[in-house]
Amino acid sequence: MADIRTIDQLDASGKRVLLRVDFNVPIKDGVLTDDVRIREALPTIKRLVSQGGRVIIIAHLGRPSGKGYEMEYSLRPVAMRLSELMGQPVAFASDTIGPDAKAKADALKDGELLMLENLRFDAREKKCDPEFCSALASLADVFVNDAFGAAHRAHASISGVAALLPSYAGYLMAKEVDTITGMLDNPKRPFVAILGGSKVSDKIKIIDSLIDKADTLIIGGGMCFTFLAAMGKEVGMSLKEEDWIERAGQMIDKAKEKGVDLLLPIDVVAADRFAQDAITCVVSVDEIPSDMMGLDIGPQTAREYARAIDDAASVFWNGPMGVFEWKAFEYGTKVVAVAVAANIDGETIIGGGDSVAAVNKFGLADMMTFISTGGGASMELVQGEKLPGVEALK
Ligand code: 3PG
Repeated sequence: MADIRTIDQLDASGKRVLLRVDFNVPIKDGVLTDDVRIREALPTIKRLVSQGGRVIIIAHLGRPSGKGYEMEYSLRPVAMRLSELMGQPVAFASDTIGPDAKAKADALKDGELLMLENLRFDAREKKCDPEFCSALASLADVFVNDAFGAAHRAHASISGVAALLPSYAGYLMAKEVDTITGMLDNPKRPFVAILGGSKVSDKIKIIDSLIDKADTLIIGGGMCFTFLAAMGKEVGMSLKEEDWIERAGQMIDKAKEKGVDLLLPIDVVAADRFAQDAITCVVSVDEIPSDMMGLDIGPQTAREYARAIDDAASVFWNGPMGVFEWKAFEYGTKVVAVAVAANIDGETIIGGGDSVAAVNKFGLADMMTFISTGGGASMELVQGEKLPGVEALK
């Protein structure tokens, strides 16, 4: 992050540090089911604490209504987990800019931690309301943003506060931005990009951008059927976005013009309905029965994709190849995940979201070079968009 100050340039000792993190973690019945995002922020928190900073942690959880406290979205269990991981107490304020937060922020001593309640309990957070921004900023002397996963949101705690306080990027933010932009600006070649997921409409910008950068673009997931339709194939009951067939055709042409190897399925696993126990068969993409739907890439396709991944010097992967949550349709995603993991000489980057869930499901996370903590944020970065959270630090 050449044009951005990181916490290496900050002496936090004795300072009140407002630290934005992305602790938007899954919680079931009050119990955290995945704490990766918390663990990934620990280097930044430890650095600030060890320097004697008075650290006020702010974050969001889920998408509450913005009309006040809602128990299921409380950050209290997250503060408890953070305290366990840090091995020190984490005070918790039941509001964000109210009396409890102010009193507890004032009472902080050097090296102590305070976490505020969910910012999104106040609708002014998402609106980047100027009064809310000022009130948050008034709690601290400096601002550190380590919330890469939320950097694509122009909210009060992300871009608003950064305009009011001396601001720095945390280690996670710097690592995410440097890794993803580094791969895009100067990829080791051959560079293979793998895109999956259900809709072309969600991924069109990233497809467009990756055709400009990659040597090979692999397409899987539900969106492959819109591409297959653009090639004139009958896809039966498979997911197909009629309005996007023309655009998919333009992407096929663009890849040809640029000399990019665009790989589409040659066979699929077809099902008689969208269910785990559906009746299935493997068919060529030229023979998808009119009353069946494709829910995974087929074994021959998976083999071809694995071969391309094998030859790559760098790999970027976003989106599963099929409905990998169900055993009957996990094979394609599994083969791709194993191929990426097995490419130990290459740089392998997993771009957040469902592909991270897939890599975790198959127990392969440790074998990847880098796994982004941001789904939406990493997609926007790859699309070449400017992230408000990053821009505000400049
Ligand atoms: C995420 O989980 O992707 C980030 O925390 C952003 O959450 P949001 O999509 O609710 O803004």
